[in-house]
Amino acid sequence: MPAALLDGKKLAQTIQGEIASAAAAFEQKHGLRPGLAAVLVGNNPASHIYVRNKRKACAQTGIDSWLHELPEETSQVQLLDLIASLNADAKVHGILVQLPLPRQIDEATIIRAVTPIKDVDGFGPENLGLLVTGQPRYVPGTPAGVHQLLIRNGVALAGAHVVIVGRSNIVGKPLALILMQKAAGANATVTVCHSRSNNLAALTRQADVVVVAIGQAEFLKADMVRPGAVVVDVGINRLKDGKLVGDVDFAGVSQVASAISPVPGGVGPMTITMLLQNTLAAATLQTK
Ligand SMILES: NC(=O)c1ccc[n+]([C@@H]2O[C@H](COP(=O)([O-])OP(=O)(O)OC[C@H]3O[C@@H](n4cnc5c(N)ncnc54)[C@H](OP(=O)(O)O)[C@@H]3O)[C@@H](O)[C@H]2O)c1
Repeated sequence: MPAALLDGKKLAQTIQGEIASAAAAFEQKHGLRPGLAAVLVGNNPASHIYVRNKRKACAQTGIDSWLHELPEETSQVQLLDLIASLNADAKVHGILVQLPLPRQIDEATIIRAVTPIKDVDGFGPENLGLLVTGQPRYVPGTPAGVHQLLIRNGVALAGAHVVIVGRSNIVGKPLALILMQKAAGANATVTVCHSRSNNLAALTRQADVVVVAIGQAEFLKADMVRPGAVVVDVGINRLKDGKLVGDVDFAGVSQVASAISPVPGGVGPMTITMLLQNTLAAATLQTK
């Protein structure tokens, strides 16, 4: 395999070590730990695994976490009541509402209900607005993780053409905003593609860096990548045989790319790590 591996698992461990040191210093200074409240509604098995992993990472880095589990039939009013109590709780610095939510609950309403200073997922309009205007506070975990994976592996972004496939509010759009910031470690030229883009392969072939976040197993093939390009795979797809694969045909693309992130062990661990970093930042902002 000629491509170098963008090893998110290893990098996540390094950054979590840095977060653990900062969290210990925070505790020593303020006599309390950074704290994250996780809210889990319903029985989605993947959501249960994601929340368990996030809480485990909190425990390993010296961040307190509390789990609020609500049944599938929870009403929007009940969830809003819980969020109001967490907004008012001084020991809770960050609030994580695991998505997706059951159908009777409007996600946008819930996201807006989390007070912006505790919105450590960075999904609310205030935090996204700060990112748009070049004053990032809490940046959503997955795109922040992709960014760290690139810069901490020495991928030059200034002036580079980054093509992002996928325009979701949680990955593609905020990633474009991060990479086009007028700031060190950014200054990329960004193209965002989606399911209505014409001649997608012609666009991805122009890229110095391709990021794929669409949720379609092994979609990006070797002939869609310029030889020597860097490829980041955000996708998580489970095949019928139970195997976990990304949105990139790893076997083929790793023959042409200069560097590539694996699934699992690429963006996933970085996402969790960035949530911890936001929680630490939230604790610092809320503690004088
Ligand atoms: N590693 C992690 O921590 C992490 C975190 C979040 C998500 N993910 C994974 O990343 C993937 C994307 O998640 P998401 O929440 O961003 O998904 P999403 O909300 O479903 O958005 C998918 C995006 O991909 C575009 N798309 C779909 N099929 C396409 C195609 N054939 N060609 C070009 N564009 C296409 C869609 O276009 P339209 O807008 O035109 O519909 C949409 O913009 C999923 O596999 C998810 O599990 C991983």
